[in-house]
Amino acid sequence: MAEWQHLVDHLADELVQRGQLTDPLWQNVFRQTPRHLFLPDRDLADAYANDAVVTQQRPAPVAGGEPMLLPTSSASAPSAVAVMLDRLEVQDGDRVLEIGTGTGYNTALLCGRLGDDHVVSIDLDPDLVDTARTRLAELGFGPRLVARDGTDGVPDGAPYDRILATCAVTQVPPAWIRQLAPNGRLVAPLHGAADAALMVFDKTADDEVTGRFDPELTSFMPLRPQLGNPLVDGGTIGWAVPLMAADGTTTLDPVVMVDPDPDLALFVHLHIPSLAVFTTDVSDGPRTISVGDSTAVAEVNVDPTSPGVWTVHQRGPRRLWDTVEHAVWLWGHLGKPRRDRYGISALDRTDRQYIWLDDPYGPYSWPLPL
Ligand SMILES: C[S@@+](CC[C@H](N)C(=O)[O-])C[C@H]1O[C@@H](n2cnc3c(N)ncnc32)[C@H](O)[C@@H]1O
Repeated sequence: MAEWQHLVDHLADELVQRGQLTDPLWQNVFRQTPRHLFLPDRDLADAYANDAVVTQQRPAPVAGGEPMLLPTSSASAPSAVAVMLDRLEVQDGDRVLEIGTGTGYNTALLCGRLGDDHVVSIDLDPDLVDTARTRLAELGFGPRLVARDGTDGVPDGAPYDRILATCAVTQVPPAWIRQLAPNGRLVAPLHGAADAALMVFDKTADDEVTGRFDPELTSFMPLRPQLGNPLVDGGTIGWAVPLMAADGTTTLDPVVMVDPDPDLALFVHLHIPSLAVFTTDVSDGPRTISVGDSTAVAEVNVDPTSPGVWTVHQRGPRRLWDTVEHAVWLWGHLGKPRRDRYGISALDRTDRQYIWLDDPYGPYSWPLPL
């Protein structure tokens, strides 16, 4: 037996044991698909570890600084791949659109399960698509591969019974909703500070999908608009350092924002999408925790000035820490909602997409940001 076969069986056994690869049909496909073929620069042990493998990086512009390398493509962690394929709930004969071909490994799994004539996959990067095409052909697969911005889907292959995004979105692109068949299923990671959130949608009307958050955490790089810029909004890394400063105090221990409970992170994300959190440990100065988004920034001193009181310095048109403080309080007040208490309603209009708590018509809902 080939060495890779032992390794893939071991990996598949691990995923089965963790409850992440439950369907026997998918189990067979996993065991028959050589992941190392899609990761030729890695040794076999790396190719069959349950880890994401970054395969491409590009420099992102940084405000007032050197560009920073960010990952722009990877082979996703096998556990994330397995969970997303499971949530897709494919049936024999389904036609699937994958957004984010990347290495082509996930495409190979889809071809193995459904047949290559039932799979369409799109990636922004033509070089990745060419390479994936070659590797898939080595396995005898010739699915339709498209090199273009996947935000618009692939209209001339629609409708699709299933759409799988392997890059994270801030909203559900309207084209995906339109191209999903009646009763279709759409699986996509949510981008932002809570990018460990996985969304699972069903098509509930011609112009609507309705979804929920999966209990499994998955983290994905964003769907980006430009080939040359890895950032989701095509912008620049770095916080605006606006004027309008305000000094004050807070009764919220800032440490709560360091490695927060993932469900708290999701709740804060609903209030401040794409909030970044940094800890600064300056040996000769104050240790601070900073939070920021593209408009505002707040710095909180980790050492309290008196028991239960911390100093906070906020800059920008929005008092960011006040919003964090409110969100953390509200999360506790609402009984620390777990992610299974939310629903997501998305029309094929970007200004009509909401996440709601418990009840779509209840008092708590948040728009998915543009
Ligand atoms: C995590 S990787 C995909 C992993 C892939 N499914 C695999 O098995 O190797 C995310 C991919 O999304 C692609 N991507 C990012 N923005 C995109 C866009 N607007 N349209 C299509 N693909 C995009 C990236 O080029 C990258 O290859």
